[in-house]
Amino acid sequence: MSLARSVTEQLGRASWIRRMFEEGARLKAERGEENVCDFTLGNPDIDPPAPVLEALARLAAEHPPRIHAYMPNAGFPEAREAVARHLSGRTGLSFTPRHILMSVGSAGACNTFLRAVLDPGDEVIVLAPYFPEYFFYIQNHGGRMVPVETDANFLPVVRRIADAITPRTKVILLNTPNNPTGRVYPETLLRDLGGLVDSLDHPVTVLSDEPYTPLVFDGREHPQVVSLIRRTVIANSWSKTFALPGERIGYLAISPRLPEAGPLADACTFTTRVLGYVNAPALWQRVVARTVDVQPDISSYQRRRDRMYEGLTRLGYDVPRADGTFYLFPKSPAADDVAFVQSLLSEGVLAVPGSGFGRAGHFRLALTVPHHVIDRSLPAFRRALQSTGSS
Ligand SMILES: Cc1ncc(COP(=O)(O)O)c(C=O)c1O
Repeated sequence: MSLARSVTEQLGRASWIRRMFEEGARLKAERGEENVCDFTLGNPDIDPPAPVLEALARLAAEHPPRIHAYMPNAGFPEAREAVARHLSGRTGLSFTPRHILMSVGSAGACNTFLRAVLDPGDEVIVLAPYFPEYFFYIQNHGGRMVPVETDANFLPVVRRIADAITPRTKVILLNTPNNPTGRVYPETLLRDLGGLVDSLDHPVTVLSDEPYTPLVFDGREHPQVVSLIRRTVIANSWSKTFALPGERIGYLAISPRLPEAGPLADACTFTTRVLGYVNAPALWQRVVARTVDVQPDISSYQRRRDRMYEGLTRLGYDVPRADGTFYLFPKSPAADDVAFVQSLLSEGVLAVPGSGFGRAGHFRLALTVPHHVIDRSLPAFRRALQSTGSS
């Protein structure tokens, strides 16, 4: 049996993150786990918040009847009600359960939405650097990804987005707090983008992929994209914020301000089913229904950001200070980021080249590792920098 041509092509392009993760597994087997510093995958290493674990234990003990059964395709009414209440409180908008669809992570929410709105050849604007899976999510549904460069500080430039819009543009995909840069987009900029979307002569919807929303540092508030841009649909999950990526629980939320919110919700309830996601994990829907307002403790991520930022800056690296998430996206000291990441690899440090995110000349570090791994990596970073002749 032959593979689909499109998948063969996609496999050729498959994410650097996974490639480096696999390279890391090989290196660990060869050198021993303790001799490798793996910064490839944004896979939280902290425990989920205590109230979440308690809710899980209580549910398992209560074991209500038919706890593992199918439920309506959009999810349990109580889970959708809880998310709607939470979002209404945060945004001042009148979300109801009708606007919420429980999903298989943020990835499931993005695919469900894109399947519902894209016709073949429709365009989706993404802001570079971007989460590499977006290319595949868009192509899954016949869409065409249109990358638009952000500025030197990784912030969107509204004029560049305006220039990229064509009659085929259906969606602008935003991700703030951002993977890979850690940037949080400022409110004024989002407001300007909302003005642009409102001024267009055909409907373009912002898909706001927000799995890192509460992970913001230095006392910042994350602006609510849905409050600032009228035509917004949110994809979100508890993968990063509650450290539950393996449990695959998230949601899609359609702004009540979208005139077509009802038909779009019906379409997404259908597409989540035919994509095979039916249903979002039952047990976890019930857990998040009880814990949706829990604030995760993000202080350990901020301390790691500080430790790595200060360590690398002291060595002479050019490191944009992340506003949130658990990523850093330093400048590669060698022009060729792939070659530089290879030299880090030979020092036992695993990173992902910026090229994989659509921005060459940088590399991404996921700080989902303990402090001692950060400390242990710094001499290796020094040697790699020295090998480029730039220190
Ligand atoms: C920007 C972004 N969107 C979506 C996802 C996927 O999230 P989930 O595991 O909730 O599907 C990730 C995971 O790394 C991500 O970084």
